[in-house]
Amino acid sequence: MSRSMPYQPPGAHTISKFEHLHLEVFDQPQQGSAAIAQEIADLIKDKQAKNSMCVLGLATGSSPKSVYKELIRLHKEEGLSFKNVITFNLDEYYPMKPDAAQSYVKFMKENLFDHINIPVGQTHVPDGLVAAGEIEAYCQAYEQQISDAGGLDLQILGIGRTGHIGFNEPGSHINSQTRLITLDPLTKSDAANDFEGQDNVPLKAITMGVGTILKAKRIIMMAWGDAKAQVIQKTVEELPTTSRPASFLQKHNNTTVVLDHQAAGKLVRYQSPWLVGSCHWTQSMMKRAVIWLSSKVEKAILKLTDADYNENGLNELLLAHGPAYNINIDVFNQIQRTITGWPGGKPNVDDGNRPERAEPARKKVLIFSPHPDDDVISMGGTLIRLKDQEHDVHVAYQTSGSLAVFGQDLERHLQFHHDLMALITSKNGSEDDETSKSNYTDWSNKVDDFQVKALIRKSEALAALRYIGLEDDHVHFLNMPFYETGRVDKNPLGTRDISLVRQLMKEIKPHQIYVAADLADPHGTHRICYDAVMAAFAECQTETWADDCYVWMYKGAWQEWDLTDIDMAVPVSPEELNRKRQAIFKHQSQKDKAPFPGTDDREFWQRAEDRNRATAIQYDLLGLPEYEAIEGFSRYFPTKDNTE
Ligand code: F6R
Repeated sequence: MSRSMPYQPPGAHTISKFEHLHLEVFDQPQQGSAAIAQEIADLIKDKQAKNSMCVLGLATGSSPKSVYKELIRLHKEEGLSFKNVITFNLDEYYPMKPDAAQSYVKFMKENLFDHINIPVGQTHVPDGLVAAGEIEAYCQAYEQQISDAGGLDLQILGIGRTGHIGFNEPGSHINSQTRLITLDPLTKSDAANDFEGQDNVPLKAITMGVGTILKAKRIIMMAWGDAKAQVIQKTVEELPTTSRPASFLQKHNNTTVVLDHQAAGKLVRYQSPWLVGSCHWTQSMMKRAVIWLSSKVEKAILKLTDADYNENGLNELLLAHGPAYNINIDVFNQIQRTITGWPGGKPNVDDGNRPERAEPARKKVLIFSPHPDDDVISMGGTLIRLKDQEHDVHVAYQTSGSLAVFGQDLERHLQFHHDLMALITSKNGSEDDETSKSNYTDWSNKVDDFQVKALIRKSEALAALRYIGLEDDHVHFLNMPFYETGRVDKNPLGTRDISLVRQLMKEIKPHQIYVAADLADPHGTHRICYDAVMAAFAECQTETWADDCYVWMYKGAWQEWDLTDIDMAVPVSPEELNRKRQAIFKHQSQKDKAPFPGTDDREFWQRAEDRNRATAIQYDLLGLPEYEAIEGFSRYFPTKDNTE
């Protein structure tokens, strides 16, 4: 099926004895989506040539959106017709009105049906309003409709983090048919953002069964991003089990799983390719292997023996670079050199083996933060050090973050404003309370809620950075337009977004840029913000400052780098960790309970501390110094494959 180049990191192998499903791995989701859309288009055209109907099983959710986008493009630009297509959607929440914002009927219209020439009568989405007593008959009729149409020629699927396909949650039987099911708590928490809170997510859904799906002649399951890496690893590499219904796809003889390299990242072929076949032993591959071995045999690096290497599939490495003592020392030194308490470079020392240059001693630093709090959450300790070590630190908030403010916080601020205005007018004695009230009403009618929410987040971000010691004129609010949709769904990255970032880079001419490279962000905002920084930086390559600029990538609130990928590890002392926590606390609208907490119950400051402590523990276990906490950064090289 692959029409564009599948992703192949060095040392990886296409076939692995650990994999029980056929995979295609692409560098970017767009490439995988284009390959899927092309296969669908080829099938439709093939059926057209034979004068027959093409029966497609469709999915909703974030995964297939880019496939649908590409199908729309093929329709509009290349004349692909959908007149001979019949579609059956996998599922629908229950109960659900077809015109509700979260309904899959609405999703399919907005993301596909309204933009192609498919006759409405040829599309089918399970009815979320069937009377309770009629559900069973309705589900049987849905099955019948599929077989009357000739059965599914091609079914596309996403995968939930529970391992569900359709809404076949853990416990679903391999032979299950279309039916009403109860949603898993993890699925509800993943859907919480669409429903403004988990409590509003319907308890149930109507879904095609695993058996219904397995009857399709061809199945393509797709998954993008790190958030899916774990469930993909288990689905692909472990045996079929009802506790992960997607694993039953192993029983189907014509299934392909299409992944981007982030979603494939936990597979043995990437995590420990030496177990799969011969490896090209680059420094980074050696580092990966030794860290893996050390954690597998639970020994510090310098204690690893030839036998440890031999008994754990690393004899090839031993032959190429052994004995163990040499490999151990080499990798130990590599990792030790990532540690620095001087993230802006240590002045007046030999910097040959340090992550950052010594000169210039006082650097211009530009930190990009997707939302107004990612900076302190993800690199607050480093930010504090950079400022304390007297670098010229600027922070740029890429989006307003206005979507993530609760209505009740807005009310509280408006109340404050109202009372303040009333107080001022009563002091002036010029207006009575009624007039001031009407002023307030006039004003609140003119300003959009989201604009006020943006101001709330701005005031919090300023408070956090003032606490760290940054001057207000070193804080930049870019308010990138792609974010301002008022919905969880964002617009694609536009030229105006990139130019806002580029202008700031050109103005500051930084020696260091920090960028959030967090592609697991559930709403895609971080990915777009990352793309904007990289596109802007690429456009600045002709500028002299860009030649002398190091780009450091940090992970957002959701995850940390693999130890292998950390090029700079900044220790955070207990005192600094406490200061970092206080800075995070200034983001009051995100405290106690954030509107978009993701699937993690901990508050952001707790996640940050747990994660930084966990990194420190990993360094400690490898036999390196024991710190309270560590923040990790990976260096971006424009010419290197940074995804390695
Ligand atoms: C949607 C569906 C679900 C999703 C799955 C992944 O029709 O049946 O199985 O495919 O929950 O959702 P996303 O793609 O949003 O991660």
